[in-house]
Amino acid sequence: MINDINSAQVAAIDSLAAASTLDEVNRLAADLTSKKSPISQLKAGLGAITDAEERKQIGQAINAAVGQIATAIETKRQELGDAVRQAKVAAERLDLTEFLTEPTRGHAHVVTQAWERLEDVFIGMGYQVAEGPEVETDWHNFEALNMGEGHPARGEFDTLFVEAVDEQYRSGDPGRLLLRTHTSPVQIRTMLTNEPPIYVVAPGRVFRRDTPDATHMPVFHQIEGLVIDEGITMAHLAGTIEAFTKAFFGEGFTSRLRPSYFPFTEPSAEFDIQLPSGDWLELGGCGMVHPNVLRAGGIDPERWSGFAFGFGIDRMAVMRHGIADLREMYTNDLRFIEQF
Ligand code: DAH
Repeated sequence: MINDINSAQVAAIDSLAAASTLDEVNRLAADLTSKKSPISQLKAGLGAITDAEERKQIGQAINAAVGQIATAIETKRQELGDAVRQAKVAAERLDLTEFLTEPTRGHAHVVTQAWERLEDVFIGMGYQVAEGPEVETDWHNFEALNMGEGHPARGEFDTLFVEAVDEQYRSGDPGRLLLRTHTSPVQIRTMLTNEPPIYVVAPGRVFRRDTPDATHMPVFHQIEGLVIDEGITMAHLAGTIEAFTKAFFGEGFTSRLRPSYFPFTEPSAEFDIQLPSGDWLELGGCGMVHPNVLRAGGIDPERWSGFAFGFGIDRMAVMRHGIADLREMYTNDLRFIEQF
């Protein structure tokens, strides 16, 4: 009888070991614990044993086997349950390995780099950075800069006008809306909101109705400078341009002013820089702020005087890096952008 118990136990445990799914284990467990299972049959036969001591021993052996089988069932259930959970976890696992690879870092665009370097140089010279809106009024962009209605210089700026959506601008004052054609209107805004002395630069985006080519873009960037103080002369302007040229380009560079004309300055000049090679390159315009402009900015020209300058940031970047075509800077081709 003990042998029968052992073999029933071994058979039960072997069948459990062979099970590969939870369903199978559940079915087996139902069979192995049913009244018809071999071990239950053996238990049912206990009553037929007449010797009390023997019956006790056999009974204990059967109980031990039942216990072993129950443990085997539980163990197998856990084992398969773990496997099911692990399979589920594996199936739902997010592949995050890409975050472990070396991340590619971007960097500031070549124009932004030039913009920030220019700001740094002027901040180092004691200037503050001013801003103005890209959608400007006709008044700030032209009128206040000594370019009244019909002024021929207006024609040189291929202006993009904006349909006014704000009633304030339809009523005539302060005039039609446009995309600013230069950063010079920031001069006016700065004068109207600040008391002199004023030392500011205003970098920003400007717009002109131009067909893109190697040297023109309809959207480009300028940096404007404005100084208003007592006793400011052309010599301060020339000295400032020279100090800036050396700080930005290096000690080997010098600058010069050439007489020119701008409606908002009198006298006006264009400034060039000389490369170590000896070549001269035109950089921008400048001059002494016209009294009409000072008045438009609410500043008394009898007491205060000042100078202003403006030049293209994209151009500076092109010159610094020897870029052949301005359009390259705005096609967002990574092969180009990543070089700077
Ligand atoms: N606003 C001029 C332009 O876009 C550049 C310029 C010339 C700015 C002379 C100035 C200046 O401040 O004094 O062509």
